[in-house]
Amino acid sequence: MKQALSCNQGIMALDSLAERSADMFAKCFGRAPRWKAAAPGRVNLIGEHTDYNDGFVLPMAIDRYTVVAGDRNAKREVTIHSVTTGETASFSMRSKISRGQPGWSNYVRGVVAGFQQRGFKISGFDAVIDSTVPFGGGVSSSAALEVATATLLEAMAGEKLDPIEKALLCQKAEHEFAGVPCGIMDQFTSVLAQQDHALLLDCRARTTTAVSMADPEITVLIVNSNVRHKLVDGVYANRREQCETAARILKVPALRDTTLKQLTAARDAMDSIVFRRARHVVTENERTLEAARFIQSRNWLKVGELMYASHASLRDDYEVSCRELDIIVEIAQSMGEKEGIAGCRMTGAGFGGCAVSLVRTQSVKSVARKIEEAYEDKTGNLPAIFSSRPAGGARVLA
Ligand code: GLA
Repeated sequence: MKQALSCNQGIMALDSLAERSADMFAKCFGRAPRWKAAAPGRVNLIGEHTDYNDGFVLPMAIDRYTVVAGDRNAKREVTIHSVTTGETASFSMRSKISRGQPGWSNYVRGVVAGFQQRGFKISGFDAVIDSTVPFGGGVSSSAALEVATATLLEAMAGEKLDPIEKALLCQKAEHEFAGVPCGIMDQFTSVLAQQDHALLLDCRARTTTAVSMADPEITVLIVNSNVRHKLVDGVYANRREQCETAARILKVPALRDTTLKQLTAARDAMDSIVFRRARHVVTENERTLEAARFIQSRNWLKVGELMYASHASLRDDYEVSCRELDIIVEIAQSMGEKEGIAGCRMTGAGFGGCAVSLVRTQSVKSVARKIEEAYEDKTGNLPAIFSSRPAGGARVLA
């Protein structure tokens, strides 16, 4: 995949980001960091709100990272400075680690607590966090922070967790320390992603299949609506409950275990809203598996059709889109294949954040420019547009 230069200007490459975090570490703590751990954000190509229904998702990591540069200290205390917010957080490791302020420190606290619970001998440490993952943009800045922290702790302990255990530990940190009942997609992707591949993840079996995206003709273009509606957390938990209600009525362990035919047959047994939520999940699982097959055969227009259908289902049945995301998808759809767009949909939890699109590489510049103009025209806001090749998962940097 090629990188569009027009819309990625000013974005730091990973090595520069790592250097900046090391410089800041030296400034804050008066020595060089011993380790630098990086973890990417992600964009989900398709398979939305299916992970907590034991279903299928098809995300890829993006070339945007969170770096945690750190070193042990001689105390039983953790001190972390965030370059993004300019804040410094400290907490003691002498007593049980609990939630605290500032809010972002909870991702670190949760991961450190998880390592302690698993019996890892973690000493106190100093760290600096720096990131190019847009915060609050629905591309998993929180998972990137959790996974980068976990990667640093592995290096500090000189011991590695099984990658799946590592992703689950980070998910637990998000549940217990950030209060978000998320599924497994974001942390899995940040840990296990492979360069130039999307990851087809079976969220029940917790198995992954790497799906090659190495086609120079096509570029993944991400359009950040630059809006974040407040609803998101409460609605996320509500949708999860509605899915569980549907599964209970259908007498199946999870919506993964039902078909559209079975669901339709049980339509009268459930509230019409619960029915629509379940219909989204069931059809989205089918679309995701189909999309993986079409990616394998490089049939990008078919993948694109499934992306548009996914968006419509998220908008109408699952009701987690918003005006700004719908506008981006409408703009993309009206430009269509003739202007170089194969498909577009909202990505992530919804209510703002980003849309993801598949664009013919040679048209990336003109597509980005047109979407930007049309979006500004319709909403009065400027989007942030960037392309990304599928990036590799978390690692310790040299
Ligand atoms: C958030 C969650 C994921 C997933 C998506 C929706 O990103 O963290 O687990 O549920 O929403 O697909």
